[in-house]
Amino acid sequence: MEKNQAIIDVLLSQVKKEDSLPPLSKNSLLLQQEITKKSPGFKKIEKMIKSDPALTSHILRIANSVVYKGLEQIDTVKEAMLRLGTQEISNIASWAIHQSNFQTKDSFIKTFKSKLWVHSLSVAVGSSWTAKYLDLDADEVVSKSFISGLLHDMGSLCLLIALEKVKKEKKIADYPSDFVLNELIKKFHSDQGYQLLKYWNLPKEFYTIARDHHTEEFDQSDSLLILIRLVDKICHKMENGNKPEETAAIVSSVEANLLGLSEIGIAEIEIKIESAQKKFNRTG
Ligand SMILES: [Fe+2]
Ligand SMILES: [Fe+2]
Repeated sequence: MEKNQAIIDVLLSQVKKEDSLPPLSKNSLLLQQEITKKSPGFKKIEKMIKSDPALTSHILRIANSVVYKGLEQIDTVKEAMLRLGTQEISNIASWAIHQSNFQTKDSFIKTFKSKLWVHSLSVAVGSSWTAKYLDLDADEVVSKSFISGLLHDMGSLCLLIALEKVKKEKKIADYPSDFVLNELIKKFHSDQGYQLLKYWNLPKEFYTIARDHHTEEFDQSDSLLILIRLVDKICHKMENGNKPEETAAIVSSVEANLLGLSEIGIAEIEIKIESAQKKFNRTG
């Protein structure tokens, strides 16, 4: 117990430091801010992507992957924007910006980061599909759903980066058990995510989601928050092996009720997430 307390103390003091924030280049940060604006400047987005060759090639790789593959190869950002639409390119750009922060050579951290990446992408894809399915476009929920899903658990990433750092610097002798780390993440990731998305200067709705996606009380008029809460629950249930009692809890949840989703609607979301997961597991 004492050992665990020592790890928690070191971790929480490390996570407050700037070098525990997922690194984003200046260009990526500006691009992310532009994408999350109320009316993003799509010419600006194209210019920002094009000014970063590594990002451009990463985006084109995703655009040509099994997830998005059309009949013909996409070779330029402009072509990608014309073919897939600026909204999809914004989603792909967010995907490309964040993916590298989920990579590590440390095998213990890698297990957690990989699971977190698949979870984040699943919530992003599931939320985006559900927003369109429910026709939530009136509140701009569709355009914000993918990135909100992708970023909702960024606090967990901060904790993993901090943990890897304190282990590397020998401030802790061993990693905690999987159980202890999962508990730590559960307890601290929402607040950490809230701090990070605020630090990244994202609009309020994004950091509100990071903070309130697990709370008992939440703003029941915030459709984007409700959507992410619901799809997050669905993804956790799928990760836990689809226990019938968890399905029942989701079907009767406040979120499903507020969105007017029946058991069939929830099953459809699960099918979409499952088929997307098969594809992005092959994309890497
Ligand atoms: Fe979470
Ligand atoms: Fe989550």
